[in-house]
Amino acid sequence: MTSFINNEIIEKVKDRSDIVEVVSDYLPLKKAGSNYVGLCPFHNEKTPSFSVSNSKQFFHCFGCGVGGDSIEFIMKKENLEFVDAIKLLADKYGIEIKETKVDPEYIKEKDRAYEINRETARFFYNNLNKNKKAMNYLKKRNIDSKTLRRFGLGYSIDSWDNLYNHLTNKGYKAKDIAKLGLIAPRKKSDGYYDKFRNRIMFPIIDTRSRVIGFGGRIMDDSMPKYLNSQESIIFDKSNCLYGLNLVNKYSNRERILLVEGYMDVMALFSKGINYSVASLGTSLTERQAKLLKRFGKEVYICYDSDRAGIKATLRAIDILTKENIEPRIIVLPDDMDPDDYINKVGLARFEKLFSESYNYMDYRIDIIKSKYDLTKAEDKIKFTTEVGELIKKLKSSIEQDVYIKKISKDTDISIDAIKAEMKKINYKKKTNYKKTYTGTQNITPVDSEVKSGKLKAELDLLRLMIEDKDYFRYIDENLSVNDLSSEDCKKIFQFIREEYNNSEFIKTEDIIDKARKDNIYSYIFRSIIEMDIKYDPTNIEDSIKDLINTILYKNLKKQREDILKEISDYENKVENDQENDYLSNLILELTRLNNEIKFIK
Ligand code: CTP
Ligand code: MN
Repeated sequence: MTSFINNEIIEKVKDRSDIVEVVSDYLPLKKAGSNYVGLCPFHNEKTPSFSVSNSKQFFHCFGCGVGGDSIEFIMKKENLEFVDAIKLLADKYGIEIKETKVDPEYIKEKDRAYEINRETARFFYNNLNKNKKAMNYLKKRNIDSKTLRRFGLGYSIDSWDNLYNHLTNKGYKAKDIAKLGLIAPRKKSDGYYDKFRNRIMFPIIDTRSRVIGFGGRIMDDSMPKYLNSQESIIFDKSNCLYGLNLVNKYSNRERILLVEGYMDVMALFSKGINYSVASLGTSLTERQAKLLKRFGKEVYICYDSDRAGIKATLRAIDILTKENIEPRIIVLPDDMDPDDYINKVGLARFEKLFSESYNYMDYRIDIIKSKYDLTKAEDKIKFTTEVGELIKKLKSSIEQDVYIKKISKDTDISIDAIKAEMKKINYKKKTNYKKTYTGTQNITPVDSEVKSGKLKAELDLLRLMIEDKDYFRYIDENLSVNDLSSEDCKKIFQFIREEYNNSEFIKTEDIIDKARKDNIYSYIFRSIIEMDIKYDPTNIEDSIKDLINTILYKNLKKQREDILKEISDYENKVENDQENDYLSNLILELTRLNNEIKFIK
């Protein structure tokens, strides 16, 4: 067994060990402009050519060419292996180290996975030059050959076994290749087929230059637009960001810019913005937020300017602020993404967007404002209540004050009245005390929603599942197909599940096609597809919980009715009121249901 230090601890050590401080333990440094300089400890010199950058957290010697971060400095200076350098620094900064024993087989499997991905990336890369159509496509998208190389772009040819043959000829096992989502077993016969065919291939590369997965874009309008590698032993989508390898290499880490797409990262990079990253077709996670924090002092979000982009921005703000990051938001003109914008207007104008960006609270308030007509008294009140909820979450009372004043100006409602309203919200929350249901599902119900009909709740949930894979995951965890009442709804639930098995997104066209084939293109189905979502995106989790509860509550009540009927039937039938197992089981079941209902209600 080899011993390993867990990644989180490594990150912590990296975060804490300031390069200037670490190097200063070994040699005197003098400030020179924005950097520090000293005599290089790795070669003999009389005039200092050893430079340390505080903002990049890097050292570099212009004399002998060595360079790296604080860990590499310690490795070199103390002649230590990586793990021991981490231990030394952890000790210096009082970080506790837990070592875990790792099975050598596991390490081998990982190494093999990296190797297969690297070979695949190389193979795709070599294909690209030979394919006119793919090269033309990239040219049309304004990607120059230098950028193309930097990103290691490739092409998967239109064949069912091109990659399979290549890799197996190199000696890799089909089973190992399939685990990475590059090939899959054939359904009707033996053997495997290539999953990426006729696509521009984007290798996803980590900060240690390892290929961890792929995204493949089709070159026309067919579906799905992107196909991504499935998660694997080396690919955890929630813990990496597209483009981070280049940010790590080139950015000065002052800013980091979060965008939606692979193409956005590339277009920005080719125009000179070397600090943008994208999540991998999923909404932002807590761990990605932590990465952003490590790679940029200031975090900016610039998502597409459509409805989905706004929704994603609001969710990203939630995640980031929980990590104590206060992002700024860049808003693009109608229906544009960063790729369109920078190609149309150029770098200088794009850079101006940073100074025009919104503070995240202003952005949220603006979005809420757009829902209301502030010339109407009723809307003013709703607006104030909603924004009040957000303001209350601010940690600093000074900040709270600033925003209270701002809303007061927007609405002409007095500051005192707003404050009073905010207190009322507090009070309401308290009286609406939510019990935590202690059954298998962890749910926190709210009265008001329970009143709405069960079918309506089912339809709303299905619509939300189609909208977003994260909603789907949550709902899927907390509700089973059989909790739904209508057969159509059950089928649609299954459909959605199948779609998400293969893709991060659901295209309504795909699901309509599928439904037609199975003859369930019923009115229920159509109403789901055509339904508009009326939920407030800042509060959607609570709404989903409420909807789930509505269904569970109604189901439990139905079960209770059935049991009550069974008990009374039994009592009518049996004359002596002697206790027996059948009856006492029914009564036990009834008590259990009563308890559950009490919790949900
Ligand atoms: N995405 C995905 N699967 C899809 C569609 C999108 O994984 N079927 C992810 C990809 O990571 C993509 C990102 O979501 O980069 C944003 O989607 P989109 O804006 O549609 O893609 P772009 O990268 O902007 O591509 P293009 O400009 O070519 O449309
Ligand atoms: Mn795009």
